[in-house]
Parts: sequence; structure tokens; C-alpha cells
Amino acid sequence: MWLKHTACRACRYAEPKGPPGIKAAPTNEKLVRVFDLGLQPLSNAFAKADEPQSAFYPLEVLLCPRCSLAQLSATVPADVLYKNYAYVTSNSETMKAHFEALWDAIKQEGEPTSVVEIGSNDGRFLAFAKEHGAVVCGIDPAENLAHEANINGIQTFCGVFDAETANMARGSLPPVRLLIARHVFCHVDDWKGFVKSLDAVATKDTLIAIEVPYVADLLKNVEFDTIYHEHTSYLSLKAMEWLLRDSPFHMHKVLRFPIHGGAIVIMLRHNLSGVTPHESVASMLAAEDITEKTWKDFSDAARNKMWTMDELVKALRAEGKTVVGYGASAKATVWLNALKYGRKEISFVCDSTLQKQHRFVPGTDISVTDEGALLRELPEYAIMWSWNYEREIIAKNTRWIAQGGRFIIPIPTLKVYPA
Ligand code: TMP
Repeated sequence: MWLKHTACRACRYAEPKGPPGIKAAPTNEKLVRVFDLGLQPLSNAFAKADEPQSAFYPLEVLLCPRCSLAQLSATVPADVLYKNYAYVTSNSETMKAHFEALWDAIKQEGEPTSVVEIGSNDGRFLAFAKEHGAVVCGIDPAENLAHEANINGIQTFCGVFDAETANMARGSLPPVRLLIARHVFCHVDDWKGFVKSLDAVATKDTLIAIEVPYVADLLKNVEFDTIYHEHTSYLSLKAMEWLLRDSPFHMHKVLRFPIHGGAIVIMLRHNLSGVTPHESVASMLAAEDITEKTWKDFSDAARNKMWTMDELVKALRAEGKTVVGYGASAKATVWLNALKYGRKEISFVCDSTLQKQHRFVPGTDISVTDEGALLRELPEYAIMWSWNYEREIIAKNTRWIAQGGRFIIPIPTLKVYPA
């Protein structure tokens, strides 16, 4: 089951309008379709052979011509998407370095002594915050992950972020100094409700930090594989500015980080905080220019990238070479389903996440195995679908490379390493 999304989540463009109590009149406004990947399965629904496989849902991007928010035309309900969720926050060196950089940036705004995290996953970031002296509490809808976090001593309420979980989190900590949502805001359907729940937790002095992939980076690097059902929106600052109109908050500062192919951390402050906005907000807003044409160019470049990959894989297979995948990320699911690949093209995908191993990549008959498979099976080529960890993955696979193995790295520019 999925819901059709037609009105802009940030500025309400294309929403039927009318006085309260009277049926709203239809509008001529329409979000514009700018990218279409057809029907795709849920990208993190890794199932075992004896479990039901994911259903397929439309994967199509609509652009709001008023505030430039890109958003999916289909919303899959959270209880379907997250009940048993295989995405686990990475334990990688890259992620640890990101946490350090993020924490330093947050500390410049004042010591974060009490932290609530929305979408806290298995509690990895909160464990980091706890090590740095904070008292912490998480909220996450994935039952498996919230359970794991609680077992590991990170108090976590299981549920989506709403008035109820917001109140539970507020009640369990001293006044919250930092309210953080890392890569979760773009998963949320009801943004107005989300902002209301922020208001239920935050005091006028709370720093709110929202980390999201930045749509300008997605467009520039043609990261089409980061478009999947969990990501219902692709955020621009202009859209955020529209969303916050008439809210108790405003954008205070924006920072860019290289994580996950380019992310921004948008810091919000309460309108009564008395803190003056940093110049980064105005300068980044002024630099943003996202139009239908930008998306059209992106769409052409994405098709071109898929075609180039397909030609390369077919040529390698015709030469009798084995091609596998490295990293069963959601990005792998998008690529494999867009190219309609199965085991015939890609022998297996290896991944360090136990929750994904011995399961199928959604929508395919390709199984996920452990990273040791590269040295056991010695495939000639591995497509790096966790390209956001490129340096780290190359460094840990030097033995396979020394034995002739080569990575195909699709983003930002498709290349083979070693060349
Ligand atoms: P992500 O890009 O959505 O964080 O997913 C990255 C995937 O790549 C995740 O399933 C873990 C996997 N991975 C490895 O298998 N080995 C590694 O060294 C790294 C860094 C990630």
C-alpha cells in the first residue's frame, strides 16, 4: 500500500484550498515530474529465501516550482518501511571522523550536555555523545534497532517522532540542549507535524541540528542511486525557509559535510533565542538555483551513467569475467533494479552488515554475503555501491587488488580502480 503525494510538503503548493468546514476547491497548481525510475522495491527490505519479498512501488520525483523541493510521488507508510529495518548506522572510520567533525561544530554553539536524537537507529551517535559526557535519549521506529540500543544502555523510545514520543523524550532528560535528526528528516512525510513535535521538546535555548543529504550535491554528482522510497524529499534550503515560515524556528547556520556524497547540517534556533543568524544561511540560499532544467540535465546524466555501466558490465561478462557488488547499500538496490540485473550479471554482493547477509538484494535473486568473499572467490571486478566510503573500502581490500581485483566506482564519475 502507498499514498499518492500531490501537494508540496514544505510550502503547500498544489494543496486544495478553501475556508474551513467547506470542501476544498481543486487547484490548477501541480508539482512537476522531473525523474522517473519506474517501479522499484523497498531498498532496505532484504529478505531471506523463505520470507516474503518486497512489493514494488512507483519511484518518481516531483519538483515544486515555488520552493524547489523535490519529493517522491508515492509515500510508503512508515510501519511498512521501518518495522524490520536492515539499515544500521555505519561503524566505519569515515563515519567516526564525521561524528568528530559534527560534534566540534555543535560544541561551537554551546556544550551539548543533554541530547535527544530523532531516528537514533541502533544508538551509535548517542553512544558517541554519551562518551563525550552527555546524557542521552533516542527515538526510533525500528523495533529491532530500538531494542538493540536499549540493550546497549542507550535509552530509546520505539516509535516515530510525534507528540507522544516527543513528550516521553522531554520527560526523561534535563532541558534538552541538543535535538538532533541525522538523515531522518528526508524520510518524514508530515513536516508541519514534525516541526510541531520539535517545539514540544525544544526550549528557547535548544540547538536543533538537522543533517540531510544536500540536493545540490545529489544533482551535481548525479547521485541518482540515493533516490529511493525512504527518502521522500530532497532538501533545498529554499524549501526549508518556506517550511519554517510561521513556525517558532528559523535557520541559524548551515554547514556542509562530505558524508554520504554531500550533506548539510541545518542548525535551527528558536525565534525567541536572541541568537543572530550566521552569514552561511544567506550566502547558501543565494547560491541555490534549482529549476526544472537542473533536474532535466540530471535525468539525462543519470540515464547516461546507467547506460555506461550496463555497457561495461555486459562487455566484461562477454569476456567471461566475474562481476560482483561491494556494499549492499540501498544504492545497490536502486542500481540493480534500474538495470534489471540478476545473478546472471552480478554473482553476489558482499557487505559487512550481518542483518543483510544470507538475504537477497530486494527485487533480485542476488544474494548478499560477507566481505571475505572477495578473497575467497577472487572475482575480477566489484562494483562499489558504497562509493561514499571509497577510500576506506579500497584501503581494506589491498590484498584482493594485489591479486588482480578491480573496483568499478560509479559516483561521482564512473571509473575503474586500479585503472
Ligand atoms: P550506506 O552508504 O547507506 O551507509 O551503506 C553502506 C553499506 O556498505 C552498508 O550496508 C555497509 C557496507 N559497508 C561494507 O560492507 N564495508 C565497508 O567497509 C563499509 C564502509 C560499508
